Amino acid sequence: MNVMNRKLDRAELADIWSIDRSEVIDRVYYHYNGELVLRDEHYDVPGWHPGQIKKDSEVLLDCFDAGGSFQGAFADDKLVGVCVLENRFIGRSSDQLQLKFLHVSRQHRGSGLGRELFEQAADKARSAGARSLYISATPSENTVRFYQSLGCRLVKELDPELFALEPEDIHLELLL
Ligand SMILES: CC(C)(COP(=O)(O)OP(=O)(O)OC[C@H]1O[C@@H](n2cnc3c(N)ncnc32)[C@H](O)[C@@H]1OP(=O)(O)O)[C@@H](O)C(=O)NCCC(=O)NCCS
Repeated sequence: MNVMNRKLDRAELADIWSIDRSEVIDRVYYHYNGELVLRDEHYDVPGWHPGQIKKDSEVLLDCFDAGGSFQGAFADDKLVGVCVLENRFIGRSSDQLQLKFLHVSRQHRGSGLGRELFEQAADKARSAGARSLYISATPSENTVRFYQSLGCRLVKELDPELFALEPEDIHLELLL
């Protein structure tokens, strides 16, 4: 299979929803007083929720128009992974950039695409002068372990706006 990675243009944002988001989750992390606790919980995520597509499409278009970076991974010309890096700084010292979106199609997970997209975004954030990459991560075991294996740790300081949006997420950062 021929896999390549390139920038997405604005019209291709609609193709993001062709990525197979389905996933079976058996364990989920909770954040209690600075500690991560893993609990058995079962979810069979069938794919993108229509409400989420509508809401996230607007958020992603706004990010794109503000200059955010959208990188796509293609397998035989089909979009199978997307990573989005914000270019508007956040944090008390305005020195953090958010990794806004990272998804790999189910059939292509576990083969290094997520790592490649993540590392590209981290390099870009570093070159832009960010001190850290901020990730509001889906709390599933696989997702949190993926970020941990790439060097991410619990944030020292929660971003109040991002926390209010997704309080059940695990908020992580990669120091750059
Ligand atoms: C999370 C996700 C983006 C990871 O992408 P991926 O292509 O499957 O990950 P990779 O194959 O690049 O794995 C990268 C590293 O993470 C590690 N990793 C991945 N899952 C892991 C797990 N469950 N436990 C421990 N390590 C894990 C791999 O071992 C790999 O390390 P290595 O390169 O040293 O072997 C992808 O699985 C996904 O889209 N999941 C569903 C959607 C999601 O949760 N997105 C994130 C929203 S915040």
